[in-house]
Amino acid sequence: MKVAATILPLLTAVSASCLHGTSLMPRAADGTVDINSYNYTNAGGPMVWYGLDSANHACSTGKNQSPIDIVTDDVDYSAAGSVKFHVPNADNAKFENLGSGLEVVLTNGTLVTKTNSYKLAQFHFHTPSEHRINEEHYPMESHFVFENTAGDIAVVAFLFELSQFGYSTPLFDSVFAHIGDIATPGTYTMTDGLDFTGITEHLNSHGIYQYSGSLTTPPCSEGVSWFISTEPLPLNVQSYNAVKHVLKFNARYTQNALGQENLVELASAEVTNSTSN
Ligand SMILES: *[C@@H]1O[C@H](CO)[C@@H](O)[C@H](O)[C@H]1NC(C)=O
Ligand SMILES: *[C@@H]1O[C@H](CO)[C@@H](O)[C@H](O)[C@H]1NC(C)=O
Ligand SMILES: *[C@@H]1O[C@H](CO)[C@@H](O)[C@H](O)[C@H]1NC(C)=O
Ligand SMILES: [Zn+2]
Repeated sequence: MKVAATILPLLTAVSASCLHGTSLMPRAADGTVDINSYNYTNAGGPMVWYGLDSANHACSTGKNQSPIDIVTDDVDYSAAGSVKFHVPNADNAKFENLGSGLEVVLTNGTLVTKTNSYKLAQFHFHTPSEHRINEEHYPMESHFVFENTAGDIAVVAFLFELSQFGYSTPLFDSVFAHIGDIATPGTYTMTDGLDFTGITEHLNSHGIYQYSGSLTTPPCSEGVSWFISTEPLPLNVQSYNAVKHVLKFNARYTQNALGQENLVELASAEVTNSTSN
């Protein structure tokens, strides 16, 4: 087990799991693990992220915010194999507990879409899922965050469904192998060997939901290209319980449909109306 030398106090610098490791939010040079200042509970939660930092204004005013409920009759699809996802196998990687996220630090990876090519920044997890499909939620969701040279972000996402008979996705069994070591925010451990061929084949053999939305964590910036596999990956119950025990809850509530008024703005206007009447 490897643990960061010090458990940092809540930091003044904002460090967002969705943006972490990109050019906008570089990783600490000394290798320490920054703990996110936002969270999913009480006055640190998604209804009030804007109040934590004025840089988060898109969280409360943006009209193309993520996550959304994906309506399968309306969403755009990319054909199976239309995006080229490539992450070379790794002997191991650093696995960090950021307080409101669990992140694997791996930057050797590329994503090539019809119009762009991106480099991997990291991948991380949410329990329960952030996206919903025809209103249904899933027990877990993984986000592979990519950035191009212009700083544009693309996220490849996988939903998980609990498996019967103990079937799972070997890559994630390796990621979660030592998760018990990082129960404390600000700590990290190392994964076992990571083999990405299984999830690459999975992505290449199913359709992909595609839309333009936002980061699901502060600063909630828009213009993020989402690619979500239409077919969930299997997750065994032991891994799910272990992840949930450490991550607890880190899903932003479902945002309004794309192009519609931000729900925080809408709620705020209704409350103002009711108190002034
Ligand atoms: C959530 O964040 C808020 C604001 O930073 C903080 O006051 C609160 O203690 C945090 N709650 C938890 C459970 O981490
Ligand atoms: C990433 O790529 C670099 C350069 O090709 C290589 O030296 C390094 O070992 C790779 N890291 C992993 C984790 O595979
Ligand atoms: C606020 O009240 C006005 C007047 O009753 C109404 O026209 C408007 O639609 C209300 N706005 C909201 C957000 O409820
Ligand atoms: Zn995410």
